[in-house]
Amino acid sequence: MKKLYIETLGCAMNERDSEHIIAELTQKEDFRLTSTMEDADLILINTCSVREKPVQKLFSEIGVFAKKRKEGAKIGVCGCTASHLGEEIIKRAPVVDFVLGARNVSKIRDVLDKKGAVEVDINYDESSFTFGDFRNSLYKAMINISIGCDKQCSFCIVPHTRGKEVAIPADLIIQEARKAAQSGAKEIMLLGQNVNNYNDNGRDFSDLLEMVSEIEEVERIRFTSPHPLHMDDKFLELFANNPKVCKNMHMPLQSGSTKILKEMKRGYTKGWFLDRAFKLREMVPDVRISTDIIVAFPGESEEDFLETMDVIEQVRFEQIFSFKYSPRPLTKAAEFENQIPKEIADRRLSTLQRRHNEILDEITDATKGRVFEVYFEELKSGGRVAGRSDNGFMVMVEGSEELLGKTKEVLIEYPRRTALHGKVID
Ligand code: SAH
Ligand code: F3S
Repeated sequence: MKKLYIETLGCAMNERDSEHIIAELTQKEDFRLTSTMEDADLILINTCSVREKPVQKLFSEIGVFAKKRKEGAKIGVCGCTASHLGEEIIKRAPVVDFVLGARNVSKIRDVLDKKGAVEVDINYDESSFTFGDFRNSLYKAMINISIGCDKQCSFCIVPHTRGKEVAIPADLIIQEARKAAQSGAKEIMLLGQNVNNYNDNGRDFSDLLEMVSEIEEVERIRFTSPHPLHMDDKFLELFANNPKVCKNMHMPLQSGSTKILKEMKRGYTKGWFLDRAFKLREMVPDVRISTDIIVAFPGESEEDFLETMDVIEQVRFEQIFSFKYSPRPLTKAAEFENQIPKEIADRRLSTLQRRHNEILDEITDATKGRVFEVYFEELKSGGRVAGRSDNGFMVMVEGSEELLGKTKEVLIEYPRRTALHGKVID
């Protein structure tokens, strides 16, 4: 048997793509997984290109792998950087055996033995391809509901790496969800770049959530990522009222300035975003709202930045993923003239993160003495088990594998920013 080592960078979509690749290679070919790169016969790097840093890292990493690998081991580059650099990867790093784009995962078995193969058609339609079955976790399953993105946000490279948006047929999604839930994954995570824009012959995302929730064995449904523009009342009402839909909403703000949002081509205003967030807090008092924020987008003035800070004060997000703007090839914003100097970007990012940490400390402290229903999914070191509350807090208790796959009530005793520590009471 040959051994496969796979490194996955970037988003949940990439994690799922890696699971698909592993399934293809371990079930239809003669591979098994290894966690030691030096033992591998095939080394795969599943890359991210949303910001520049991981792309730079890729080439130094290829060099390290090439030096340390077992004799004769192959190296393949997959994912979003593969999609946008294509054969340039092999030109810059001839040790690479093949390049497989983020939208060509189903072709992994075709490129395996073709030295120099480059499969990077970003509009290849693999929406109905049935992959083998592999999941990293026994207790939860990720399921793609769409591929690609039609949004063209001016900072974002994803439409150029994952291509046009195509909905995966709802029947296929339900079939996958049923299979996963029956094999023990009581939590289903629905994945897409823009999930609430889903449309399969008139079935929208709210309809899809309803259909998944009707599968008896499914206990919890999560999804990522929705777009604030498509958070209409029907969607918010379903989110609020369907007990299986977890009360954790990702609302990627990007900027609090209506002017910058327009430049970003996000399609909503600060006012719309606040309206949706307040409505959500009103309908679901216990909701956790997470967000993505980009600081120092081209042309962002101090006033624009303060608008973003204002949204943070008003919405009090439970979690923020914040980034400095990074110019990406093929995107419109990379050509904008008024790029922001690094010192200003650094200062804005640290101002934002410092203030958010203060807010987060208040939110975290307020969980002390509260009880959450926690679905346990992972063993941690030191005899601890981790899981998530319905609204997405990471919770840890002392315990053993007996807790895995079970939902228990937990009393929070020592809340920390990274995880709430407590004990099982029921
Ligand atoms: N639709 C996807 C977006 C994928 S990119 C989603 O909502 O998850 C994930 C995040 O990376 C974006 O929300 C944005 O905040 C950030 N990002 C994308 N392009 C960026 C860039 N050029 N510079 C900095 N951050 C970026
Ligand atoms: Fe990117 Fe905007 Fe789509 S952030 S993935 S172009 S919704």
